[in-house]
Amino acid sequence: MPSFASGDAKNGAKLFKTRCAQCHTVEEAGTNKVGPKLYGLFGRQSGKVEGYQYTDANRDKGVVWDNQTLFDYLENPKKYIPGTKMAFAGFKKEKERNDVITYLQEACK
Ligand code: HEC
Repeated sequence: MPSFASGDAKNGAKLFKTRCAQCHTVEEAGTNKVGPKLYGLFGRQSGKVEGYQYTDANRDKGVVWDNQTLFDYLENPKKYIPGTKMAFAGFKKEKERNDVITYLQEACK
């Protein structure tokens, strides 16, 4: 199994802006949009953002989000969480996952 490796945060920011930001915020003061806010994501269990209506599938997944669980999830969200309503096909390239997660480490805390 491939594993997370630290990537290029600058490219990750660009990827986030074009592929994630229409549905997610990262700032502490950010709001839930189509998807839950991602602020404080690392170390949090799936499905725990207050005031956000998750699917049972996402809520009951019971993983703790960290570099590796995000790396596995973002390859193919619908495979990792069958039944999720997150409409994102996934980043097939490891580099894209590494870059966006490296960006999120900075942006979400
Ligand atoms: C079209 C909208 C959309 C896009 C694009 C999108 N997401 Fe999501 N995301 C969602 C929705 C909706 C959920 C909640 C899924 C559920 O409840 O089944 C979600 C859930 C998540 C979760 C789980 C959060 C938790 O609290 O358990 C993470 C992490 C996440 N998205 C990250 C990302 C990242 C990173 C990207 C870009 C690579 C992305 N998403 C792109 C809509 C989107």
